[in-house]
Amino acid sequence: MCGIFGYVNYLVEKNRGEILSTLLEGLKRLEYRGYDSSGLAIDGDKPNEVFIEKAVGKVKELEKLVNSQNLDTSKVFESHSAIAHTRWATHGAPSPLNAHPHRSDPTHEFVIVHNGIVTNFRELKALLMSKGFVFETETDTECIAKLCKYVYELNKHRNLDFSQLAKLVLVELQGAYGLLIKSVHYPGEVIATRKGSPLLIGVKTDKKLKMDFVDVEFPDITVEAVSTTDTLPNPSLLQVANNGLLNPLMGSDLRHSQSRAFMSEDGVPMPAEFFIASDASSVVEHTKKVLFLEDDDIAHIYDGELHIHRVRRQDGQSTTRSIQTLEMELNEIMKGNYDHFMQKEIFEQPESVINTMRGRIDFDTKTVTLGGLSAYIQTIRRSRRIIMVACGTSYHSCLATRTIIEELTEIPIVVELASDFLDRRSPVFRDDTCVFVSQSGETADSMLALQYCNERGALTVGIVNTVGSSISRQTHCGVHINAGPEIGVASTKAYTSQYIALVMMALALSDDSISKTARRHEIIDGLAKISSQIKTVLQLDDKIKQMVTSELVSQKSLLLLGRGYQFATALEGALKIKEISYMHSEGVLAGELKHGVLALVDEDLPIIVLATKDSLFPKVVSSVEQVIARKGNPILICNEGEHPVSRPADKSLRTLEVPATVDCLQGVLNVIPLQLMSYWLAVLNGHNVDYPRNLAKSVTVE
Ligand code: AGP
Repeated sequence: MCGIFGYVNYLVEKNRGEILSTLLEGLKRLEYRGYDSSGLAIDGDKPNEVFIEKAVGKVKELEKLVNSQNLDTSKVFESHSAIAHTRWATHGAPSPLNAHPHRSDPTHEFVIVHNGIVTNFRELKALLMSKGFVFETETDTECIAKLCKYVYELNKHRNLDFSQLAKLVLVELQGAYGLLIKSVHYPGEVIATRKGSPLLIGVKTDKKLKMDFVDVEFPDITVEAVSTTDTLPNPSLLQVANNGLLNPLMGSDLRHSQSRAFMSEDGVPMPAEFFIASDASSVVEHTKKVLFLEDDDIAHIYDGELHIHRVRRQDGQSTTRSIQTLEMELNEIMKGNYDHFMQKEIFEQPESVINTMRGRIDFDTKTVTLGGLSAYIQTIRRSRRIIMVACGTSYHSCLATRTIIEELTEIPIVVELASDFLDRRSPVFRDDTCVFVSQSGETADSMLALQYCNERGALTVGIVNTVGSSISRQTHCGVHINAGPEIGVASTKAYTSQYIALVMMALALSDDSISKTARRHEIIDGLAKISSQIKTVLQLDDKIKQMVTSELVSQKSLLLLGRGYQFATALEGALKIKEISYMHSEGVLAGELKHGVLALVDEDLPIIVLATKDSLFPKVVSSVEQVIARKGNPILICNEGEHPVSRPADKSLRTLEVPATVDCLQGVLNVIPLQLMSYWLAVLNGHNVDYPRNLAKSVTVE
């Protein structure tokens, strides 16, 4: 979805060309999130001048536009602040006007880039229009830019600093935001703030920082602007204007404090660069030192320092934000020799599953240690039930592992799609454990479900790929799946790593059960071999490409049948196929075939059956026979040498043979041919594999 990138240099000389290319490269790194337009704002040639450039389409289009403007790229800025954005349309169609940055007025006094949705934008817009502001876009974001100018003018006599002004603006906003604000009134400065939308700040200095944390600064007297929600359910907007926006900010003159982390020994200001982004992938090539903002943090970057402010102090709140070192490597977010990120990520799975298990499974002693869960293992064991909550592929990883978690822990498991779970306001109790599975850790539906469970006192566990993400920070405990950055919108390596992380969770939870020892050892032995077995499955790539070319590429629809452990594989395969090849595909529980789906079967409909050996194999064989009896010609994913149907008449059956593993791990291997099939379907149909239409990598809106 939308992406934010900002760049501030202080006492580090950069010419405009360098600043522009930093911004454009930053935006390109965010492209995988999905977007439809982009834009940027930089300083102009004269004081108090800001240039805004916006274009529909890929960042390349913005780059072309910028290059066509004859900007003086040699102009040097010793200190400068710039903001940029990729937009995924929610309010208003993709157009240059609706693209960000948005401005307060034709002279660009305040410019804004925003991720998320301002839910009270209509009320704010009406208020601002009544004050003479003229709106030019259909977006919710524009009201923030105009609100900044309105509040600035109302408080001009107070000489507010940028963070004070931001506080007054932010108390009026409802909804979700990751936000950067730049203003001609505060040259070289940026405000970065978030609520429910991720934002991090990369810091680059020549000298080592004095501290690896930044103090949180609280006001001496709390800002008590009238909230449009808390006190007045239906406030008159004028009343808000008079009581809220006009309300004095504070009794004291807030001062510019000095940040301890950025204080230089000799008192001489330290040259510094700041890279602000919604995603670490656009920062890692510049610096690995990053600070993740928390909800309601207001970061104020000026004079080479980073300050974190909050509107009010709350009990138990941390008073510092640590500056962490990113473990991500640049090559992890590059395509290397692959044509697409998705292809690279499919082929990375032999390593990514090892990374998920690394340091956690001792294959000699057959023990599993999950550091992030250890303090909570007993509590989870005592829980009345485990509720697994996720969306899309992550939901499928829950379905795929539910049986083994239930078998090993003997705790009832419920698997929920986050949106439906919330729609039903499903009852949650203090003795429930709620497990949130998410690649990005930022999916809005999952986040809301997490907040819902936290409010009800349940123990919450995160199974997350993205370190520092909202879900990983707002759960009580959890496991990072360590699959490495996943850029392709279609999730592949995250699925297999989530799968293995959840199996490891089941193993850790059951290691006090003697009766389960043999089963646990069997699974751990299976996990020891899984990486090399994935390598074997990946060798099917050419065969799958040929199969897709010769018989699937021009089809309109495809069925995938599976049961037991393989039902989740069928659903996941169908999701992969539809999201990137745009072909209708459906994962069907094989046991349901005769209850309706069989009516679709004929000699033309492509059908893939997951027919690897487990306790349900005889039943799957019978489904295959039912399909063949209706002239169907299924493709079978089966174990090496274990064809489910061996009658001579069926010799023509096409198979994709995969190695055999323990029943509960077979889905890790079986999903890979389907990932490859979806990949080739998309490539051979000429679709954009990594950026499928209408989809975004990180779904941060409800
Ligand atoms: C997967 O291929 C999809 N792009 C999508 O279903 C995704 O899994 C879903 O949006 C959940 O995302 P998350 O794992 O980041 O929470």
